[in-house]
Amino acid sequence: MQTHLVLLTKENYKETLSQAAAILKSCGLVVFPTETVYGLGANATDERAVKKIFEAKGRPSDNPVIVHIASKEQLQELVAEISPLHEKLMAKFWPGPLTLIFKKNKRVPSATSGGLDTVAVRMPAHSFAKDLIKKAGVPIAAPSANISGTPSMTAPEHALELVGKVDMIIDAGFSEIGLESTVVKVEKDLVLILRPGAITKEMLEEVVYPNIVLFATEEKDLHASPGTKYKHYAPKAKLEILDSQEELEKRKAALEKENKKVGILEKTNLEEASKNLYRRLRELDKGGVDVILAESYLEAGLGAALMDRLRKASAQ
Ligand code: TXA
Ligand code: MG
Repeated sequence: MQTHLVLLTKENYKETLSQAAAILKSCGLVVFPTETVYGLGANATDERAVKKIFEAKGRPSDNPVIVHIASKEQLQELVAEISPLHEKLMAKFWPGPLTLIFKKNKRVPSATSGGLDTVAVRMPAHSFAKDLIKKAGVPIAAPSANISGTPSMTAPEHALELVGKVDMIIDAGFSEIGLESTVVKVEKDLVLILRPGAITKEMLEEVVYPNIVLFATEEKDLHASPGTKYKHYAPKAKLEILDSQEELEKRKAALEKENKKVGILEKTNLEEASKNLYRRLRELDKGGVDVILAESYLEAGLGAALMDRLRKASAQ
């Protein structure tokens, strides 16, 4: 397959939008920017198109994808019911990095929902993403644009692994947030975080109070989000998380004594660390290090999402 690579500029914005929308309408695949990570998009209502996403990524077919919309009207086309808690969360956090799980309706093909009776929906805030969904006129199914098991794509050069597998790749620079959206499931009067992200537990609590917000860390809840059972974001090198700068230095010295090539994930503020995580993991891998050392972060606010991804990257 020929892949059309476009560097998005002010001058070619409209033309790129038209080309990408045309591809999406005719069952093709487009890599496009969002504020979290790049997405690998296809028409969510076309089973054939969605199946192509799974092929291109090498993604297990029981791992459902997120459907991206540009308006509340599009939500009506996808879901069977919307609860008052859903309404509250949408009013506060959409458009933005929050994905909500709904009971799906018949228009959602089972390839999109991974055979579940629910569908994950997000309204992205990135202006090109919003314009693209509007122009295509259909909801867009889009998992993170990476081969399954490698870190999500947050910089245009990461898309090279998808050349030949998709119709178009739109380069719009580095992703602003750098971690995938928060995935939330509303269960009666409880809000469950299936995947932490830039919309933090604290932010959710503030909006749904007196309702309770919980991380779905229990086994049974983890199975509610099929993606969490697969290996994720794994760099080729072994990633180790240390509790302090001092411990990290000690470990580094010990590894170097064993002639291991060590890469360090620099500790910065939470926003910077999140934004740069996948890019640095890929860079260090490319540099051929044996072990990557990272210092842990406090698990509050965005720290919960960052630690979640670090842990997943270190589990192999
Ligand atoms: O920020 C993001 O969310 C990015 C951008 C492109 O929007 N997308 C993304 O998609 O990260 P993906 O497919 O890599 O992650 C989707 C996650 C998976 O863990 C999946 O299992 C979960 O959402 N998910 C999707 N549909 C679900 C459903 N119906 N019930 C529970 N979990 C679901
Ligand atoms: Mg992903």
